[in-house]
Amino acid sequence: MAAWAWELLLQLLQLFSAGATAGRWRGEGTSPHLQSIFLGRCADYKLLNSDTRTKNCTAIWEAFQVVLDKDPCSVLPSDYDLFINLSWHSIPRDKSLFWENNHLLVMSYSENARRFMPLCDVLYGRVGDFLSWCRQENSSEPDYQSCPTSEDCENNPVDSFWKRASIQYSRDSSGVIYVMLNGSEPLGAYPTKGFFADYEIPYFQKHKITRFEVWVMHEIGGPYVESCGEGSVKILEDRLKAMGFKYSCINDYL
Ligand SMILES: *[C@@H]1O[C@H](CO)[C@@H](O)[C@H](O)[C@H]1NC(C)=O
Ligand SMILES: *[C@@H]1O[C@H](CO)[C@@H](O)[C@H](O)[C@H]1NC(C)=O
Ligand SMILES: *[C@@H]1O[C@H](CO)[C@@H](O)[C@H](O)[C@H]1NC(C)=O
Ligand SMILES: *[C@@H]1O[C@H](CO)[C@@H](O)[C@H](O)[C@H]1NC(C)=O
Repeated sequence: MAAWAWELLLQLLQLFSAGATAGRWRGEGTSPHLQSIFLGRCADYKLLNSDTRTKNCTAIWEAFQVVLDKDPCSVLPSDYDLFINLSWHSIPRDKSLFWENNHLLVMSYSENARRFMPLCDVLYGRVGDFLSWCRQENSSEPDYQSCPTSEDCENNPVDSFWKRASIQYSRDSSGVIYVMLNGSEPLGAYPTKGFFADYEIPYFQKHKITRFEVWVMHEIGGPYVESCGEGSVKILEDRLKAMGFKYSCINDYL
């Protein structure tokens, strides 16, 4: 076959496979079995945490799923107000753990909320953890192909969920606040635009907080992109100090 014909064939194949798999948006589509995963997690959580014993998981789901009736780029954090209200419980003092770029490490650190209670171990965070959801653009069905990310549109269902949940978690945090950052992240340990910077730091209730303790974790063997007192970690330190918080920082805690 002539080279140009071969090239054309390859291009056609690529076009075809892209068209068959790519959805409308950049994000993962609605998680299969979203409702049963949600309800199962909620029921499990109630069994393990006595202060949520009286929660009504069906009512919490109903409050949550109203966003699946909305346009996938028109979901606001406040659309989750009733969901948060129904699933709300307090966060124990000195147990709040915030993080950026460290999700799996945080989950193993918290050991199901015995040592810490990061947002993904609070009932309202747990039910959405690692899941995706959105309605199709012009139909009432969930979109299982793709869902919008912040690059597609700001007011997408998943980001608005985590914004609302993060705001609540920060407001309810008290005592010592632990922050885990990834010092091997090439773009910087503390993203100056991110959930922690934009939806958590501004919502801390100063009178309830004794101090901040920041841990900068590095991958074993590096790279050591940033450590305490350096680069974006210094930006965070300056910001928290300017807000009047006590601050300390530890490299590679434990
Ligand atoms: C839980 O909420 C559902 C939906 O709102 C309601 O139908 C049900 O009666 C509630 N169950 C209890 C035990 O309150
Ligand atoms: C939930 O809503 C009720 C009724 O509006 C209100 O009294 C209560 O304080 C709210 N709870 C939370 C945690 O927001
Ligand atoms: C930290 O960031 C690096 C670079 O992006 C990444 O490879 C690594 O998985 C991250 N560590 C954790 C615990 O998430
Ligand atoms: C939805 O409808 C709008 C307006 O009719 C149209 O511009 C858009 O392309 C449609 N989207 C899809 C995925 O069909």
